[in-house]
Amino acid sequence: MPNNSRRHTASSSTVTAPVARGDGRIEARNLYKWFPGGIVLEDVSLTVRSGEFLCIVGPSGCGKTTLLRLMAGLAEIDHGTMSVGGIPVIGPSPKVAVVFQHFGLFPWKTVHRNVALPLQLARAGGAETERRVSEVLETVGLTGHESKYPAQLSGGMKQRAGLARALAASPDVLLMDEPFAAVDAQTREVLQEDLLRLRDQLRQTIVFITHSIDEAITLGDRIIVMAGRPGRITREFPVEIDRPRTIAQVRRHPGYEGLREQVWAELRQPPAGSGRSGSGTGDAA
Ligand SMILES: Nc1ncnc2c1ncn2[C@@H]1O[C@H](COP(=O)(O)OP(=O)(O)OP(=O)(O)O)[C@@H](O)[C@H]1O
Ligand SMILES: [Mg+2]
Repeated sequence: MPNNSRRHTASSSTVTAPVARGDGRIEARNLYKWFPGGIVLEDVSLTVRSGEFLCIVGPSGCGKTTLLRLMAGLAEIDHGTMSVGGIPVIGPSPKVAVVFQHFGLFPWKTVHRNVALPLQLARAGGAETERRVSEVLETVGLTGHESKYPAQLSGGMKQRAGLARALAASPDVLLMDEPFAAVDAQTREVLQEDLLRLRDQLRQTIVFITHSIDEAITLGDRIIVMAGRPGRITREFPVEIDRPRTIAQVRRHPGYEGLREQVWAELRQPPAGSGRSGSGTGDAA
């Protein structure tokens, strides 16, 4: 395997064989994160149940990506604790996969080789890798495109390939940072429907960052609202809409507009000194 294919894994020593899906519970306790510019996350505590689909919304710069990177073991926690499945997060793990907005595909590798990468890093055998790659490509609807290069794919297909790669090593947790922000509105809805279907099928714990309240309501079991300066959780809203869901059903749900307004209202709160802290529970939907 070429050396550069390992670059995206900060610590290959933490990679082990693919694991069967286990406990995907995420526990963050009293997290603080400082950067040279100042404090970014202040006293963030959060529990994500195993199998839960949690959406995070908040203004630009409030620390959403930073929180996700702490969950993924891609950044160091300055204070507090973070665990996944009861195990403290000390670095990247094959139990936790990340999907970013800009796909993160290696342009010089085919779809097949991009998707096979986590399995190779986990030292899966050739037959197991082949089986798993075709399985996940089928899951995301990319069968037949194995030998294409990323430049030959549409935005939606690139994102599917990124998702297939994230799913390849059967992670317990999927962390998604604005994964559909770079695709057109129509493709975005198709991908949302796909993710709804996948979620019901795979039951991973999913943490999904988005700037779209509609997307958060469509996909999430719960929505966390963050505020900035310093980044903190101000409120949470359960999304009490039955699954399986379709976008059309969600938009027609009697609780949809009300929940949308409540999340908007929370996002419009003044940034600091509003006297609100901790995570309240919304009575939306
Ligand atoms: N590596 C870094 N070094 C210094 N400051 C950083 C670093 N990464 C993030 N920050 C700062 O931390 C704050 C939070 O950034 P973060 O990327 O987590 O925000 P975000 O909520 O994801 O924003 P967006 O919605 O625009 O993606 C910002 O002020 C950012 O400038
Ligand atoms: Mg971000």
